[in-house]
Amino acid sequence: MTRDNDGLRWGVVGTGGIAHAFMEGLRAVPSARVVAVGSRDRERAEWFGDAWDVPHRHGDYRDLALDPDVDVVYVATPHPWHHPNTLLMLESGKHVLVEKPMAMNALQVAEM
Ligand SMILES: NC(=O)c1ccc[n+]([C@@H]2O[C@H](COP(=O)([O-])OP(=O)(O)OC[C@H]3O[C@@H](n4cnc5c(N)ncnc54)[C@H](OP(=O)(O)O)[C@@H]3O)[C@@H](O)[C@H]2O)c1
Repeated sequence: MTRDNDGLRWGVVGTGGIAHAFMEGLRAVPSARVVAVGSRDRERAEWFGDAWDVPHRHGDYRDLALDPDVDVVYVATPHPWHHPNTLLMLESGKHVLVEKPMAMNALQVAEM
């Protein structure tokens, strides 16, 4: 895993309610930094980045997946999209934190 002296570098997938709660929660982890956010919409990525002082704002989840400065992502999309969003990140070499419900069925979870 790639780490720098300041700890893990996080990316957030999606800009909804839980993405904001995650940002609030991560404040309790001094060694963690959110360096990137991905949204389906460029303006929402910018808005979220401004709100939380996140330097990299991506208007496409694929661009977040390809961001070399991100070690691990938090998937904050609705659960029907956990499977494709998680695989996209894993295939790009990112570590992934994804919450319950993890996916739509056991087959998807096994693939992830
Ligand atoms: N830990 C907990 O207690 C807890 C509680 C509730 C939920 N969760 C987790 O968080 C996930 C998201 O919940 P939320 O309440 O944050 O939902 P939300 O407010 O609707 O936000 C979901 C975000 O996902 C992105 N997204 C991607 N594809 C989407 C689609 N087809 N429709 C709608 N949004 C889409 C959107 O961001 P962009 O448009 O910017 O891409 C949207 O802002 C849940 O599925 C669950 O896994 C955890």
